[in-house]
Amino acid sequence: MAFRRHKFGSAGIGLMFGFSMCITLFGPSNDFRSGVSTWVGLDKQLSLGRVIGFSYEDPTVSGDGKPITVILNKDPKTGVAIDPPIRAYVYKPGVKFSPGVNHPELLGPGVEDLSMRDGKISSASMSSGAVFTVSKGVFNDEEVDYIENASATRGWTPDKTLRTAGDANSRYVGKGKTIYISEGCWWCHTLLPEQTQDWQMFGQPPFLGDFNGEMPTAFGSDRKAPDILHVASRNSSREWMTMHFFNPRLVQPNSIMPRFDYLWGKQDANGNSIDFAKWRADYSDYLHGKRIYAPEVPEPARDSEVRALIDWILTSLK
Ligand code: HEC
Repeated sequence: MAFRRHKFGSAGIGLMFGFSMCITLFGPSNDFRSGVSTWVGLDKQLSLGRVIGFSYEDPTVSGDGKPITVILNKDPKTGVAIDPPIRAYVYKPGVKFSPGVNHPELLGPGVEDLSMRDGKISSASMSSGAVFTVSKGVFNDEEVDYIENASATRGWTPDKTLRTAGDANSRYVGKGKTIYISEGCWWCHTLLPEQTQDWQMFGQPPFLGDFNGEMPTAFGSDRKAPDILHVASRNSSREWMTMHFFNPRLVQPNSIMPRFDYLWGKQDANGNSIDFAKWRADYSDYLHGKRIYAPEVPEPARDSEVRALIDWILTSLK
């Protein structure tokens, strides 16, 4: 008898398992393609490029081969002023396009249609490079943001656009987010305010459409430090960020955050080599009351990793 009951039990478990698989496979499900990409989603994927973090295109996770976000106050082709300034995303020849450009169905209804029709994204070519912007249009009486291939619609080339913007208006956002991943900032920080009291402190939780085409999302899970999804809205000081990354204790005396001074590389913005040992000796004197002021933090070089990291924070985490 006991044996028969056992047999019935396994059949029952089989039935339940089969039934639940049927729900999984055939039941109503969330079709991600029906999520309409927001401006945040478009801005994020265009500034990050194809994939961030580990990939065979960037096996050392160094942030190479990423697009550059620029702020344009004049048209790179005609020189006519653009007021207010707009963001453009520059893909030099060979830089891999973001997922939504290659697979417009990821953008969601409306955004996909306008990006294809008015934005001409299907004519963008990876081998010759392209410049994209996010534009506003109307689809079925609703206002939507869509991707515009400005190389096709306005004749902007990557070279000319970078030259027009200049270094002061270039932001290495894609590289910066890669450094967030490779440095493991997500062990302590999250990029996901939750629907609790959390958002009174850290700002609005994201929308579904903020993630169309972002790979990976880097939400983080175990939080040991503030959520930084909107950190640039509470603190937009580049100087503060620079000091805080060189040594967090300069601005937050009891911080447990590690120093990231090695992200400066060997030389500062003026090409002088950075003497880390001397800096730490001076800092120790400061801590022990042997000097009044902490030593100056070196100005990061243009191609330093910390420059990219701060560019990402101040441009994207608003
Ligand atoms: C060991 C945990 C830890 C790691 C790793 C860490 N942080 Fe932090 N971070 C903190 C803590 C704790 C604070 C709050 C105290 C402070 O401001 O230093 C903080 C503060 C910050 C702030 C200011 C937040 C605010 O609300 O004002 C930013 C921005 C930041 N971290 C970015 C980073 C980035 C980028 C990395 C990786 C390069 C990183 N952190 C790595 C623990 C960490």
